[in-house]
Amino acid sequence: MAATKKNILKAVENIKLLSPNAAGLLEVSSRENHDLKDIVRVIKHDAALTAKTLQLVNSAAFGLHSKISDLERAITYSGENFLISLVMTEAADMIYNCDLAGYEGHKGGLWDHNLLTALASKRIAELSKEPLNTNVAFTAGLLHDLGKAIVSDFLKGSAADLLASLDKGEMDDYASAEEKLLGIDHTQAGYALGLHWNLPEPLPSAMRYHHKPAEAPDEHRALVYAVHLGDMVAMMTGRDTGADALRYQLDSNYSDFIDINENDLAQIILETDSDFSKLKESLNE
Ligand SMILES: [Fe+2]
Ligand SMILES: [Fe+2]
Repeated sequence: MAATKKNILKAVENIKLLSPNAAGLLEVSSRENHDLKDIVRVIKHDAALTAKTLQLVNSAAFGLHSKISDLERAITYSGENFLISLVMTEAADMIYNCDLAGYEGHKGGLWDHNLLTALASKRIAELSKEPLNTNVAFTAGLLHDLGKAIVSDFLKGSAADLLASLDKGEMDDYASAEEKLLGIDHTQAGYALGLHWNLPEPLPSAMRYHHKPAEAPDEHRALVYAVHLGDMVAMMTGRDTGADALRYQLDSNYSDFIDINENDLAQIILETDSDFSKLKESLNE
């Protein structure tokens, strides 16, 4: 299929919808005021997810001394971020199995990048000047680059040209280079996917504005800045998606929203790396 905006948007329309329970879980977890009870209510209705949760919580990664058979306890023990990650691996194998060929990345790289961004965004959201729900920052981080799963196929073979045009200073960042080539970049494709899946705000805004947080709607801007920095952390730790690694601009106005210094950043990089290993292990990967 020709690499045109029209075909890319058509590819978005062909992506399988989320299951009602996965969509329900994202809906609940995007609310500023939600708690674990709301999450339990959704998972309870999904037999497969309930079984999977119990199976993983009782696996070696969690190191429990006695078996948990009660779902509510299992959910309390494993936590919301684990559950959202689990649901996304099940619901969106297009991300999980994306080979990132257009970015010259590798299979699983997009998932790892999103996961690390999610964990870093959560820690950064704790430093937000306006109070943010850090679990919402996690979910937004987990979805932020899904657009790459869509545009990757259309970018195949063009990474060298895009990098050359960046090196010549023709473009500011990788997303602009994508847009010049395709008429659409991964943030716009991600936004279209967010609408296709009917995702609640702030998720589509994070998908759309994570490289240009200043353009995010007022009410979501602080959260999008957290994801913007979380994305940078992921790229700095080498959990990138390939050719576009660190080929984006840092918006230095982040300090209007996030109170972070170099020591905090170093700490977040360390902690996130260990969070990442733990989460991957608990997901049985
Ligand atoms: Fe991105
Ligand atoms: Fe990213």
